[in-house]
Formats: sequence, C-alpha cells, structure tokens
Amino acid sequence: MLLTSDPATLHHIMSSNFSNYPKGPDTKLLFEAYGEILFATDLEEWRKQRKIVHGFFDHHEMRISTPKINHEIIQNGLFPVLDQVSEQGLVADLQEIIKRFMLDATCMIATGYNHGSLRVGLPEDRVLTALHDINHGILIRHIFPERLWKAKKWLGIGAEKKLCQAWETLDSIALEYLHKRKENPELFFQGINYFSPEFEAIGLNPSKVMIDVVKSLLFGGTDTPSSALTWFFWLVLENPKVELKIRGEIEANLSTEKGEKRVFFDPDELNKLVYLHATLLESMRLYPPAPFQSRTSIESDILPSGHRVNPMMKIVPCCYAMGRMESIWGEDCLEFKPERWISEKGRIIPVPSNKFVAFSSGPRICPGKELGLIRLKAAAASIIHNYQVEILKNHPVIPTTSIILNMKHGLKVRVTNRSA
Ligand code: HEM
Repeated sequence: MLLTSDPATLHHIMSSNFSNYPKGPDTKLLFEAYGEILFATDLEEWRKQRKIVHGFFDHHEMRISTPKINHEIIQNGLFPVLDQVSEQGLVADLQEIIKRFMLDATCMIATGYNHGSLRVGLPEDRVLTALHDINHGILIRHIFPERLWKAKKWLGIGAEKKLCQAWETLDSIALEYLHKRKENPELFFQGINYFSPEFEAIGLNPSKVMIDVVKSLLFGGTDTPSSALTWFFWLVLENPKVELKIRGEIEANLSTEKGEKRVFFDPDELNKLVYLHATLLESMRLYPPAPFQSRTSIESDILPSGHRVNPMMKIVPCCYAMGRMESIWGEDCLEFKPERWISEKGRIIPVPSNKFVAFSSGPRICPGKELGLIRLKAAAASIIHNYQVEILKNHPVIPTTSIILNMKHGLKVRVTNRSA
C-alpha cells in the first residue's frame, strides 16, 4: 500500500493514467451493499454506467427539480424542526438534523418521494440507521483481512450481521418507493426519469438496476453533503466574523425584509452568494467528507514522485492531509480563511481537482457536485438568515473513524428563531 498527498501523483492515478488505476478487484465486495452500480464498478462496466448516469445529472429535469426539492425540505422539514427546538429551548444535534435533511432531499431526487425523516421529534429512522451500519461495515471490510470478515458474515455476527440487515432494509425501502411510484404516480413528485432502458442495453437486470440506482444515489447524496454542512457550521459558528459576513452578504444581495422568514432555494439567487460559496469550499478543504480514497494498479508503473508501483498495489490519496499541506495552500494552510477562494474581482478562484480533492478527481469526479453545492448553499443560507445557532459550551468535536468524516458526538446546539 502506498499513501500519497502529492497532487502530481493524484493526477497521474486519477486522470492521465486512469485506465491503469481502477478501484480494484475487491471493490465490488467491499461496497456490495450499495449494489452493482457506479461506486462498486470499474473500467468498461463503470464507463458505460457513468455515461448513462451523467445523462440524469445533466438533464434539464434535474435543474428544474433541484430548487423545488430544496424548497420543500426546508419549508416543511427543516423549519418546523428548528422552530420547535427554538420554542422549547431544546438542545439539538445539528449533525442529525442535517443528515435527515440530506436523506430526504436525496430520496426525493432518487424516487420522487419525500421520505420525511426530518420531522418534529426526529423519530428513529431505519434508513438512517441502515446507512450508518453499512458505512461502518464497509470500513471494517477495508481494515480486516477478507477471510475474517467473510467468516463473520457466514456466522452472521458483529458488524457483518448489522451490514446484512441494513442492506436488506435499503433494498426493501427502495423497492417499496418504486412500487408506490408505479401504482400512484400522481402522489409522487416526478423528478428525474432514470428508469432508463439504456441500462438494460448494457446487460443490467432492469428490476435490480432501479434498486441499485436508488441505493447508490442515497449513498452518494446523503452522507457526503451532510458531513460537509456539519463541519461548515462548526467552523462558521466558531468564527463569528465569518458568520456575520455571510449574513451581511445575504442581506445585501437577496431581497429580504427585516424580520421576514425566508427560504432560499433559487439557484440564480444563491449564485450571488460568493462568500458563502467560498466558505463551503474552505470547510471542505479542511474537512473533506471522504477523507481518503483508493485505487489499485493493474500494471507496474513509475509515479511522478519516482516511486515504483507493482501490479495490484493499493494507492491511497489522503484527502484530509492534502487540505492541510503548506506546499499546496501556502503558509496559512491551517487557518480557516474563506477569503483565499475569492479573486480581486470578487469571483471564486478555481483550484484544480488534483489539489482540492473533496469531490474526487478525473473521470470519476463526483457527478453530484453542482447539485450538492446548490443544496448546501440553500440549507446554509436558510438556516443562517432565519436562526441564531449556538454550539453548546464544552461540547467535544472529534471526527469519527469512518469512510465519511462525521462528528463522533454530533454537533450539539441551541437555536433561536430570528424572526419570532
Ligand atoms: C458536498 C457534497 C458532495 C461531496 C463532497 C461528494 C464527494 C464525492 C466523492 C469524493 C466521490 C468519489 C467517491 C469514490 O470514488 O469512491 C463521489 C462520487 C459520487 N457522488 Fe458525490 N459528493 C457530494 C454530493 C453528491 C450528491 C448530492 C450526489 C447525488 C445526489 C452524489 C452522487 C455521487 C455518485 C453517484 C458518485 C459515484 C461516481 C462514480 O463512481 O463514477 N454526490 N462524490
């Protein structure tokens, strides 16, 4: 195994020499709970699927439905929950609230159905538990020898038992929503029609592929954006000057009446919030939601750093470390400084994806990047404009050991409604 934080090496394995560095033969097994689409595939199989999936993300339906979905989840999910926390003076876990927000929004994109996990009282949610157990199971499979976790799977014990149960839960929920949608299409937000016959044309089982597409969207669209927004809030709330600047930018650029409660969801409006955008990128630089990625070589090779690579060698780009390298970001690399992303002309400075790796890099770069950023901006602006959020004193903020960078103890906050 070779760990790297070198942008030239990252570019080599993820872009210029992409075909020699697939995720590797064990990927299907590691990610099997999320089905046989995208995350778990490689090479030709992946290339064909990715082409079809790109069609959904580029489709104008996606552009039209994204703001509608964000509006629905903010207005009918997020606001009632935050209002209750505010009115009753409760302590809330912002990480949990954000996770539910992302789950419901992604579920609407994937199935047309509002899963409704974000509602007053935050009742236990089997999909959230399933996503948590699967991610934990995937981490265990990465760490322990295959023979060990396979034995546990066979015996039905430990993390493997939970992973299998969670896998069944996701399969059944995906199937349930797809059936409901077929039987009562009028009850569903139509969203994107991804039931593409093209999948059948590349040899995928049409009934299984729908479940797998739903599962891979739930996986891709829930945990990474919720990690990004949770760390964003922690950094912003710890830096009141940044919070004030974001609030000022909203008031200066978007039509808001004093004391008026507003949902921000229109992409044209949100795109005016350059400082907010920069703050989100800066948070993901320091806390990339996927803190490491991995590739496995097919043939031997020499890396730009001069290191020799043998066939079947695992190369692990350390995204977390790359966000904190002086050689990439300069002497102030450890400072939280959204301004570094803004040019003199007031625009976002583009940084190549082999240096800013939060969305991965090369042909496998996240297809949900634009959708994710708009959703993050909508949620962040709507919360910051309408509520005063305060982190509980002495609340410990520590990352978990996981394939996703979550907070081990959540983010405990109190909330005050600014328009009440
Ligand atoms: C802040 C938001 C997001 C971040 C930081 C992020 C990050 C990433 C990263 C690092 C990968 C590469 C993972 C790997 O190769 O193992 C990825 C892939 C992917 N993401 Fe995102 N993502 C975000 C939002 C979304 C959203 C909202 C969706 C969909 C609704 C989505 C769907 C996907 C899919 C389908 C892939 C697999 C692509 C492939 O293997 O070809 N992502 N994302």
